[in-house]
Amino acid sequence: MKKLKVMTIFGTRPEAIKMCPLVKKLEEYKEIESKVCLTAQHREMLDMVVKLFDVKPDYDLNVMQHGQTITDITVKVLKGLEEVLNKEKPDIVLVHGDTSTTFVGALAAFYQKIKVGHVEAGLRSGNIYSPYPEEMNRKLTSNLANINFAPTEGNYNNLIKAGVDKKDIFITGNTVIDALLSVVKEDYVFENDLLNNIDYKNKKVVVMTCHRRENWGKPMEDIFTGVKELCEENKEIEVVFPVHLNPKIKELANNILGDKDNIHLIEPLDYEPFVNLLNKAYLILTDSGGIQEEAPSLGKPILVMRTETERPEAEQAGTVKVIGVTKENIKAEANLLLNNDNEYKKMENAVNPYGDGTAAQRTVEALLYYFGQKNERPQDYKIHLL
Ligand code: UD1
Ligand code: UDP
Repeated sequence: MKKLKVMTIFGTRPEAIKMCPLVKKLEEYKEIESKVCLTAQHREMLDMVVKLFDVKPDYDLNVMQHGQTITDITVKVLKGLEEVLNKEKPDIVLVHGDTSTTFVGALAAFYQKIKVGHVEAGLRSGNIYSPYPEEMNRKLTSNLANINFAPTEGNYNNLIKAGVDKKDIFITGNTVIDALLSVVKEDYVFENDLLNNIDYKNKKVVVMTCHRRENWGKPMEDIFTGVKELCEENKEIEVVFPVHLNPKIKELANNILGDKDNIHLIEPLDYEPFVNLLNKAYLILTDSGGIQEEAPSLGKPILVMRTETERPEAEQAGTVKVIGVTKENIKAEANLLLNNDNEYKKMENAVNPYGDGTAAQRTVEALLYYFGQKNERPQDYKIHLL
């Protein structure tokens, strides 16, 4: 039988973290010919992950430039993919999540009447400007996708509401849990001495990340000022903030948080040290999507510095709280967890609503079923709490 040619397209750090386990799984199946195209919307932050998972890309559009706008990415990726898809003519293209690479990858495939599979489909915040532009990217990609891999039942329901036929949706869990389980180790030793020398037992270590476009400007200034004041008021905490490489964010973080003894601004970490740092942390402050999925499995309370979330499952399970972006809220909510053991314990449960580590396998089995190469539809992933 002719092999199914599957081209996986991704370009940013979180897409890579979630797509690499899938690429590795695709490579295991003799029925599949796997091709990988990086858009390189990110560069260093992407390469770190691709190297860690030992994925060998077939194409690299190398589009990243400093100060790139959404339009820059869209135009370059669309043009670059035209040539690659025309040459390879895959049976299906797989895109992931909600970035510009995701939407444009799906559009480029549609233009050549190539089928589109959307991994991490069906997340919705209900506000097209938050997260921006991700919520619109998701909706547009749903319209372009032929087959949808929804991490959870809630995501499935969102797709049904949007008019997607149920036969085109598979509930797989999120591949981020596959990635996470492959790298967390209780006895992990960092290469970075600063991280090894932190006293995780006696200090309350707060891991922070912040990068979202809708937080740029005043909200991010407020977030950073809130964290600075929190550190002044709580001398026993240590904040570790691996700063996103976006120059705008680096500059603001340095200006507001740069000269505090108990705040460590560091370069983005490789995935392995980063999740092991999460595993040693007391509390997580973030506006990231992926971290909201990972940290609950590690039993870490997460305060989400956004006005909404498209990932309500962990909020319902009680380990995530969406606290908005005002300085006052950030200080009040973090202080509550730092200084009140009962409040901390309520959020400390390890829950695992986003996957059981088999999402990549379910996705590949679903693909084979969809293309008639397997008789049985894979079983849907069901949320389980640890
Ligand atoms: C992008 C995605 C966002 C995702 C985030 C994950 C869009 C519009 N945004 O946002 O959905 O949550 O990635 O991190 O798709 N940079 C580097 N090196 C890198 C990566 C970035 O120097 O490896 C700098 C560059 O100056 C670049 C800037 O960061 O121009 C912004 O990158 P971009 O991909 O446009 O946006 P993100 O904010 O990273
Ligand atoms: N991450 C990482 N190194 C870091 C910070 C984050 O590997 O220094 C990982 C994190 O574990 C998660 C992903 O990057 O899997 C989240 O990416 P990001 O916050 O950039 O994007 P989002 O998830 O918000 O789209």
